Amino acid sequence: MAALEPWALALLILASILIGLYLIYRILLLIAPSLYSSMISSNSISVDNFVGGPPSPSSALKCWVLNRFNVGGRQAKKQPGDSYSLKVSDSDKLPGMKITCRDENGDGIASSSSLPPVIVGTIRMGFGHHRIAYAAASWGLNAGNDNDNEKRRETWFHDFLNIDSEEAQMIKDTDKLYSRGSRLASELGGPVEKFWGSLTKSGDEDSLRVTYQFSEHMIPLINNLDKNSPIIATHSMVACAAVAAGFKNVINLVIDNHAQWFVVVPGALNLVQGPSNYHSFLKMGVPEDFLALAGHWIPRDLVEGIPDTCAWRIQRRKDGKPLRIIIPVGGAGAQRKFIVEMVGAFAGLVKEGKVQLFLNAGDHEHMKEAFLEALNGNGMEYDTVTDMEGVMDFKKRMVTEEPAKNVTLFTYTEYFTAVATTDILCNVADVLACKPSELAFYPIPKLMIRRVGDHEAYSALRASELGDGTLEVREVPLAVRYVELFLSTNLLEVMNTSIVNNNKIGLYDGCKNAVRIALERAKK
Ligand SMILES: *[C@@H]1O[C@H](CO)[C@@H](O)[C@H](O)[C@H]1NC(C)=O
Ligand SMILES: *[C@@H]1O[C@H](CO)[C@@H](O)[C@H](O)[C@H]1NC(C)=O
Repeated sequence: MAALEPWALALLILASILIGLYLIYRILLLIAPSLYSSMISSNSISVDNFVGGPPSPSSALKCWVLNRFNVGGRQAKKQPGDSYSLKVSDSDKLPGMKITCRDENGDGIASSSSLPPVIVGTIRMGFGHHRIAYAAASWGLNAGNDNDNEKRRETWFHDFLNIDSEEAQMIKDTDKLYSRGSRLASELGGPVEKFWGSLTKSGDEDSLRVTYQFSEHMIPLINNLDKNSPIIATHSMVACAAVAAGFKNVINLVIDNHAQWFVVVPGALNLVQGPSNYHSFLKMGVPEDFLALAGHWIPRDLVEGIPDTCAWRIQRRKDGKPLRIIIPVGGAGAQRKFIVEMVGAFAGLVKEGKVQLFLNAGDHEHMKEAFLEALNGNGMEYDTVTDMEGVMDFKKRMVTEEPAKNVTLFTYTEYFTAVATTDILCNVADVLACKPSELAFYPIPKLMIRRVGDHEAYSALRASELGDGTLEVREVPLAVRYVELFLSTNLLEVMNTSIVNNNKIGLYDGCKNAVRIALERAKK
């Protein structure tokens, strides 16, 4: 027998490997449904019923593999004894709010009210979920009040990552992967950014199956709270874990403006921010009883400040005052390149005194470095604010004064101040320049800059149609063009008018409504 040519041999080996892999895949598909059913066999609630039926074999396989990736070989701990003792302490951030954490002594916790507390449940992943949680808590602080102390509920801020545990560690590990991914994608751009976009956008039924399965492992983080408490969750995993643990009054604040399965939760009331999300979820098959339109997630200070602040902004334009732009960076710190270029492009307007910049680097050392490089590189003078006292004092002065320097850089080592600074500064700024994140719906004129995940595109669209923001600005020269329009046309006045009018019909009242609905359901 003649020996095979080397290329033919190589081809033969390659073909055998491919056939082998294909056979393994076919075999895995055969056993996938039983792997999947054993995985979900002890679940508290059926995701398959919620999404309209069991998965196909390939979906079952995908869910099983992703779940192994998330939790390894661990079994979910669901017995009543599987829980961590918790304690509460007064928040030094929001007066009146209590914060839960693990109690090593295990004395247990009690509310000082006869009614169970309103729990605002969240996970500190990026800034978004936390920001919305603080917004919800700001409305919860006077919850149920009337003048009757007996009927006054406490508000407890329950962050899963604040409960020092193996479960919290599992969440942190996943988050790290996500942050690294989105930073890399935005820096590489092109096909990588596209691929990342498609990953974060593929919010199909499997994404909910996998999210819920992961949440079953989080039950111990919530099991020790009073099950009669109303829970307002600002991360779908918290809502999933609450439902799995047996809470009956769970409200899930749906993020963004793009209907994806993993942001809604079976067994919870899912509140959405806008009408297109409402009908998109209905169309997907989310039952009407589990869905309601609430409005946008905005902190109380900002909503209540709308009439005065809008009038103040218009007056500034009439007086020809410099245009104040806040530029925050998200928790994942993923937009360095675009923002640094944009700051450089604003240098001319800043030096002419037409524009003032409030740069919030948050608690990201690498963003601080990047801002400093852009400022120094363009010869821009700046002041620095580094703590809560500093930013509160700055805000107070900015109502009537102009800043000493045309650029102020806010940079922190502390997480809460980093998140809160953007909220604090909105009422003394003219424009917020941010990616279309949860900030896209804030009641301040917005320059919406380049998105990180594709799902964010729909938030920019919403802001633009509400009249309080631009469409997504993907190139730096276009951002400069918009700033020139803000300076030279009545665009900001038109946006101000939209904000005032939107507020009259309650479009920014999402968190206020969430608290009201939670309390109404608690009475039943
Ligand atoms: C800052 O703005 C003022 C006008 O508000 C302008 O006169 C001044 O030149 C600017 N300073 C610098 C250093 O850019
Ligand atoms: C902002 O818009 C509102 C709503 O149209 C308007 O009543 C108000 O006068 C505007 N503010 C100023 C200072 O013009």
